[in-house]
Amino acid sequence: MSIQIAIDGPVGAGKSTIAREAAKRLGFVYMDTGALYRAIAVYCKLADIDSYDEKSVVSILPKVNLDFKIAGGEQLVYVNNRDVTGRLREPEISMAASRISSYGAVRAFLLDLQRDFAAKNNVIMDGRDIGTVVLPDATLKIFLWADPHERAMRRYEELIQKGLSTEFSDVLSDLVKRDAADTNRKHAPLKQAEDAVRMDTTGNTLEQSIEWVIDTIKLNIEGL
Ligand code: DC
Repeated sequence: MSIQIAIDGPVGAGKSTIAREAAKRLGFVYMDTGALYRAIAVYCKLADIDSYDEKSVVSILPKVNLDFKIAGGEQLVYVNNRDVTGRLREPEISMAASRISSYGAVRAFLLDLQRDFAAKNNVIMDGRDIGTVVLPDATLKIFLWADPHERAMRRYEELIQKGLSTEFSDVLSDLVKRDAADTNRKHAPLKQAEDAVRMDTTGNTLEQSIEWVIDTIKLNIEGL
């Protein structure tokens, strides 16, 4: 049986950076599940499908072939053999990913892929519903939280560093909207699993949060 660590939390809580780094230092495979929703959103954009149009989005799912690989510590995502990694973080794609992730058929489409991957690898997987729906029997569940203003600032700095021009107020309002949509949707909403360890990273440096998560993993999983 593989070791499965679920890390869930709202937008910008540092999940992906922390999970990727913890996986690297502890010898786990990392899977960014948000990237899967984002990749479908990119596909819709390329195919000129409106993400509000649930029927059309669901109708293209059988044509979507998702693949990912790790290169230089980064998860590269391919849709029908096309590398879409560079587009995943665009603000427009973030909103569209959140929207299409509320469609039950999209979630069902990605469920087996995530579970199969976790069954075959010792994984750290981050997302919204990993501890509650995807891996309800995960070896360890962590729920990462941080104050929304601080999360927006982290996301803003990340986008600026990537050379994307944006305003802090837009990043904050997108984040609040996306959190609300992810929390209030009908299918697999963002929610802390009852047996998850909750960590509030407000005021932490990234390195502090990484060490905190690694310590928690070591404390809870024998032999690490
Ligand atoms: O983690 P992220 O910001 O890259 O995720 C993008 C969107 O995908 C997020 O707004 C909600 C959705 N998502 C989800 O519903 N379930 C997951 N396990 C991961 C992401």
